[in-house]
Amino acid sequence: MPTVTVTRLLRFNAAHRVHNPALSDAENAALFGKCNNPHWHGHNYTLEVSVRGPIDARTGYVMDLGKLRDAVERTVVDLVDHRNVNVEVEFMRDVNPTTENLVVGMWRQIEPALPEEVRLVRLKLWETENNYVEYDGA
Ligand code: NI
Repeated sequence: MPTVTVTRLLRFNAAHRVHNPALSDAENAALFGKCNNPHWHGHNYTLEVSVRGPIDARTGYVMDLGKLRDAVERTVVDLVDHRNVNVEVEFMRDVNPTTENLVVGMWRQIEPALPEEVRLVRLKLWETENNYVEYDGA
């Protein structure tokens, strides 16, 4: 069967503070700007989850996108949506919550929750309308 990549988008919002405790306050402010605000701030994130696999002969699907949505909601979105990433999200504990670190943490959550017939091939995490990061598990 042909192998196809399918993608599901999920949206959530979360608060964070990008901060490296090993650096001085001045260095943090210079490096991270508005995202270093000690009083937190939020972003409206969009997560694109892409899985790849053969088309199932019976369903014509690679994977039911509703099931993909459910898996990502359970392992990621339900844990971060309307939360403070620095203080409330266990899988980001002691990690500076840049978009890069967040996407890697999300990969580790989602990947083990997927069925055997598909492979997680890409996460694309939009922090703003202008900025996104991509991760392929490397
Ligand atoms: Ni920020």
